[in-house]
Amino acid sequence: MQIFDIHTHLLPGIDDGSPDWDETMRMVYQAYEDGTTDIAITHHILSDQDYARESEILEKFEELKTRVADAQLGLKFHLAAELFYHHEIELNHKISTFNDNKKYFLVEFPMQGIPRYVDDKFFEFIIDKITPILAHPERNLGIINKPERAFEFVQRGVMLQMNAGSLNGDFGEDVRAMAESLLDARLIHFVGSDGHDTKRRPIKMKRAYHQIVDRFGQNVADSLFRENPAKAMQGLEIRIPEPMPVEPPKTKKGFGLFKKFGF
Ligand SMILES: [Fe+2]
Repeated sequence: MQIFDIHTHLLPGIDDGSPDWDETMRMVYQAYEDGTTDIAITHHILSDQDYARESEILEKFEELKTRVADAQLGLKFHLAAELFYHHEIELNHKISTFNDNKKYFLVEFPMQGIPRYVDDKFFEFIIDKITPILAHPERNLGIINKPERAFEFVQRGVMLQMNAGSLNGDFGEDVRAMAESLLDARLIHFVGSDGHDTKRRPIKMKRAYHQIVDRFGQNVADSLFRENPAKAMQGLEIRIPEPMPVEPPKTKKGFGLFKKFGF
């Protein structure tokens, strides 16, 4: 079994993820013991100035591989970044795309909403055969308020990455319900732990994996945790199921979501 985690903050002292090598190695063992086999490292790049840390990231990435090779865990590592969206976003650095493949990149929006004109910018990438992978859309208030935006993004060629913890309710009931609705509508293509440490935001995937197997079947789980990420790492084309319009999220606490946003 292969479980691919495409979103982590694993290297020490880069962003709000692991603070030091001790925690990084504890995270590696936590992921390994939880059944993860492949990890993509995606540190925050909030603005182009953050690319000043690229050489440090590349050095620490090599050091991580050496340290983990000594431990003989068989884990595979990949490198990219979590690019904070802005209109001049560019992909000219080695860490901009997964394994520098110039084909797939992970991008996040501000949690409060969807940036204006982002559709046009994404479209420029997509016609160049470069696929934006939107990080944790289920946590974005713009998507929660208007889930049809997720459907529109996917129709236009954007792919979506859900956080493993979202399905567990780690980010609250509204986010859990949104994650479920996106999965129901076949709009999720990848899962990532978004792991920052071993306690507060752990680097664990297995629970979400089993939830998806139980609810959507082994084939869907294979796509999300193995086939799609393997192709994205190699820069290969990914065929996705026909997206469906999103049903309004059903929260366990009833219609709280609609009350909250004034529907
Ligand atoms: Fe992240």
